[in-house]
Amino acid sequence: MNKILLAFTFFALMAIASAFRKNNFSTEQKQVAAPSKTAETFCPNPKFRPEAWMKKFLDGLSGTKSDSDQIKYLQDQIPTDPHVFSSDQVVSTISKLTFDSSRLKSMELLNPYIQSLSSQNIVDILGKLTFSSNKMGALKLIANTLTDISDQSKNLIANQFTFSSDKNEALMILNGISPRNCIYGTITAKVAVFVIDTSGSMDFKFKVNGESISRIQFVKAQLTKTINEQLKKYQKFNIITFSNQATYWKPDVIDATPENILAAITYINKLGTSGATNISGGLDLAFRSKEVLNTIYLLSDGVPNSGVMTIEGIKKYLTDKNQNRQEKVKINTISFILGGPENQQERTLSFEFLNAIADATNGSFKGISE
Ligand SMILES: *[C@@H]1O[C@H](CO)[C@@H](O)[C@H](O)[C@H]1NC(C)=O
Ligand SMILES: *[C@@H]1O[C@H](CO)[C@@H](O)[C@H](O)[C@H]1NC(C)=O
Ligand SMILES: *[C@@H]1O[C@H](CO)[C@@H](O)[C@H](O)[C@H]1NC(C)=O
Repeated sequence: MNKILLAFTFFALMAIASAFRKNNFSTEQKQVAAPSKTAETFCPNPKFRPEAWMKKFLDGLSGTKSDSDQIKYLQDQIPTDPHVFSSDQVVSTISKLTFDSSRLKSMELLNPYIQSLSSQNIVDILGKLTFSSNKMGALKLIANTLTDISDQSKNLIANQFTFSSDKNEALMILNGISPRNCIYGTITAKVAVFVIDTSGSMDFKFKVNGESISRIQFVKAQLTKTINEQLKKYQKFNIITFSNQATYWKPDVIDATPENILAAITYINKLGTSGATNISGGLDLAFRSKEVLNTIYLLSDGVPNSGVMTIEGIKKYLTDKNQNRQEKVKINTISFILGGPENQQERTLSFEFLNAIADATNGSFKGISE
């Protein structure tokens, strides 16, 4: 009798403990999960480079003579348009290049401007390279753009290599990739600081399949995904937000350990919006880092109406900030203006301002707008 009671009590306690654990787990999940499934899964349709831009670009490329000419041309021209390259545009660019070394370099330069490539696109690109060592080099540079990540597509790509040792190496590269984020792309920097606009206008909403999502809600979901899916222990990161003033998550960058990633996600979830757009205030805090800062990711939906407000001003500001740093800080910028009442001119001004920041620091610029 006592034994039965004891056993019963034991199982009851186990059940309660398990329910508690489950509950604890699900509370944690809720914190981690973005407030809306749509905010997590939606990806704005990319706008590709205009045909006229491409034609001029490719014509100019045909006029280059040497390997170094071609690379210089790509370095100068690729950042001059805010749109991403479609897979066809990537392939036609490589087709115009006449040296394996410039073809390889082009993969590195195009990478930030590629939203996604299919396994078949990657196969086509590798087909443009002659030697298997160069094919492998190219694969290393573009693997992270692969969208249809499956065993089948990995094998399709690996089969472009003749030797089994190469096939294995290709599979190893492909097994190491994380999904590319449609806002932040791939975070390859060893030290990355995310600087985010939390001004009042980030509360403006856009519609996805009838559901209203605010800009900030979407950006929070995408940053959460990026940090969670991509950052590895050897990377360091921090999060800074700005409106009237700037605020940091941590005083300086910290290791991307699982615990720190979880804490960052909790921090992101709590972010709200208010006030003005003080971009230089946000950058001030990012540049305060004592570490070798590789890349700042700056996202805003406007132009500053506080702090440094002119293009000339921000260029000088960035030159000054970078002057005494041994390794220059690159700023990848994103102008994110879906929905909202802004007219075309205001959208263009935001593109221009954020593009100028990227340009002044050799970063990449991405414009996402109506
Ligand atoms: C609940 O989750 C927290 C945070 O991960 C953890 O520290 C704690 O031990 C968990 N509690 C239980 C009962 O599982
Ligand atoms: C912009 O932000 C910085 C950093 O928080 C702050 O020092 C500065 O006073 C702000 N500028 C204005 C005009 O509020
Ligand atoms: C940008 O790149 C150019 C050419 O490679 C270089 O001369 C310049 O110092 C770089 N600027 C910064 C801020 O990294």
